[in-house]
Amino acid sequence: MRCSVWATAWPASFGEAGPLHGACRRVALRRRLGPPLVIEVVRFAGVRADPVRPAFLAVEGIDGCGKTGISRSISQHFEDRGVEVVATREPGGSPAGEQIRHLILSGSDASWDPYSELLLMTAARVEHVKRIILPALARGETIVSDRYVGSTVAYQGAGRGIPQEFILELHRTAVGDLWPDLTIVLDLEVEIGLARSRRRLQTISADEGRFESLDVGFHGRVRRSFLHQAAIHPDRHVVIDASRSPDDVRRATLAAIDCWFATRGANRGYVQGV
Ligand SMILES: Nc1ncnc2c1ncn2[C@@H]1O[C@H](COP(=O)(O)OP(=O)(O)OP(=O)(O)O)[C@@H](O)[C@H]1O
Ligand SMILES: [Mg+2]
Repeated sequence: MRCSVWATAWPASFGEAGPLHGACRRVALRRRLGPPLVIEVVRFAGVRADPVRPAFLAVEGIDGCGKTGISRSISQHFEDRGVEVVATREPGGSPAGEQIRHLILSGSDASWDPYSELLLMTAARVEHVKRIILPALARGETIVSDRYVGSTVAYQGAGRGIPQEFILELHRTAVGDLWPDLTIVLDLEVEIGLARSRRRLQTISADEGRFESLDVGFHGRVRRSFLHQAAIHPDRHVVIDASRSPDDVRRATLAAIDCWFATRGANRGYVQGV
């Protein structure tokens, strides 16, 4: 069933997608990181971003790739255009989900069996989707989520070795098969991401380093999974090279988002069984 909230919740002020002024140019980059061919928008030639439709965006990538900072920039970018934004995160986003976040991200890796971890992540997502995301979409607000189900496919699937089909089935039945309109994957070498992340955790003395404690092999599988997800669903992913300066990453991300909205529109999310 297609999500009907879009049609009813579409503020009249957004109108139809704006005309194209200029064109997005896409450049194919083949990375020596296994089979996926990663397409990244590397140039943006004056596509007009306004008016922007309410949409569901997620930001994904390995630990320390810059998701939280970029999520803030994306929210600001939409707010600057007068769009109501709900900035949220996973695991977490709802009161119960934030409690689950603390359980899963703290402590040692041995704290949870991979299946317990998956079920806790999914429980947090059910609360997040049903209490925060769907009501916000119904109000016509745009969601910017720092991580979503792509992280579960990557961490509990590719990382922990739980069959992906089981994860997707759980997502279909428990969560209602809600996928973002657009997922931004920030791609970065694992060693660089982990170094950034560990530095940040030390600075703020946060007890959220359970995944950072895992080895480079684990994080390598996670990285490849994000690239694979983007490669098999290129219509709803953009991959950004996150090894550049924060300013360059921000500019590339916002340009890619504007380009995506101008050329594809946002009405690509779907909800089934909710
Ligand atoms: N492009 C960049 N170059 C250098 N440092 C960066 C860049 N982007 C972010 N950082 C720094 O790296 C650290 C991690 O960034 P951030 O918290 O946004 O990443 P994250 O993907 O949300 O991490 P985590 O997965 O741990 O939540 C921060 O200290 C941030 O200032
Ligand atoms: Mg973060």
